[in-house]
Amino acid sequence: MREKVVENRPYGLMPRNGQASSRPCFDDPREFNKENGVSRLRVRLNRLELANPVLVASGTFGYAREMQAFIRFDRLGGIIPKTITPQPRAGNPTPRTVETASGMLNSIGLDNDGLDAFLSKHLEYLLSLGTSVIANVAGKNRDEFVQMAERLGKVPGIAALELNISCPNVAHGVDFGTNAKLAAEVVAGVRGACDLPVIAKLTPNVTSIVEIAQAAADGGADAVSVINTIQGMAVDWRRRKPVLGAGFGGLSGPAIKPVALRMVFQVARAVRIPIIGVGGIQTVEDVMEFLVAGASAVQIGTANFYNPSGAEHLVGQLDALLEREGVADVNEVIGTLRFPDGTGCLR
Ligand SMILES: Cc1cc2nc3c(=O)[nH]c(=O)nc-3n(C[C@H](O)[C@H](O)[C@H](O)COP(=O)(O)O)c2cc1C
Repeated sequence: MREKVVENRPYGLMPRNGQASSRPCFDDPREFNKENGVSRLRVRLNRLELANPVLVASGTFGYAREMQAFIRFDRLGGIIPKTITPQPRAGNPTPRTVETASGMLNSIGLDNDGLDAFLSKHLEYLLSLGTSVIANVAGKNRDEFVQMAERLGKVPGIAALELNISCPNVAHGVDFGTNAKLAAEVVAGVRGACDLPVIAKLTPNVTSIVEIAQAAADGGADAVSVINTIQGMAVDWRRRKPVLGAGFGGLSGPAIKPVALRMVFQVARAVRIPIIGVGGIQTVEDVMEFLVAGASAVQIGTANFYNPSGAEHLVGQLDALLEREGVADVNEVIGTLRFPDGTGCLR
């Protein structure tokens, strides 16, 4: 018997031939009409408004200077620079990255110059790039998060704060992201310390990400980023040693996309808070999958290393795809996925 053709495709988003495109995002250098793109692609995540939903993820784009030869920054929805800590940090022993099947492991350990250097050396440049700048911060305790928020909140031009409560590569890096009470407290502390929109970046290394996302929402977060890297390990069996200097690392890249999608949808189904999807995104098909699963925006991470202009092309490709599909506003597709049991996103 022939299978019944499913006609109720949401907004006609299924590829016409039923095949998902595996074409990498950088094959299509098509320009997008910025004026059209802006109106079609604009998204709002509570107090944070973005020109389009494509951001570049913290730690994979440096402080942007190193990417200037490859990408037009003002096409991006926003830039999230490397995590800033109150004091400079040297990071973990080398080697700190290793390629894995469909991904990479890193154990950078929040190597950065500290908040003072960020403010004096990097911020002015970042704010000149014509896109939203979301500062990503990490503290050892609640007070450090709050003090950083107080200082960054006084700087005009920053669009939002992303709280890295999810770094698997430093001691106590995930304490706030694995304990609902602490997550709510740190978000509430930051929320009270500045007027900037607050995004909590969540770790997948928990039993229930929904519980932590709910705690972040209860603490007053404007949005959650889902997910940071998944803890993993690479082994050099001949030397009987881990490959990474720190032993364990965080897995990223296409290998983690299914986990990230699952977690985005679980949060979208249970918590009334905008979500930024992160994890293995490299094609416009990936972007659409995250949007329908409940993400209001996405971050491109590991893909920046092998295709530094890819995020810009994704913006144009998303605009073109929506136009082709007759979708006037990207918000029409966000959270439209229906699970087999009939449940869906709360938005
Ligand atoms: C080399 C490397 C460094 C990273 N550094 C940070 C960081 O400083 N702060 C942070 O919040 N996330 C950091 N991340 C995590 C990414 O922002 C992102 O959440 C994760 O890699 C999953 O996305 P992807 O699969 O697209 O890379 C880093 C990831 C990589 C690969």
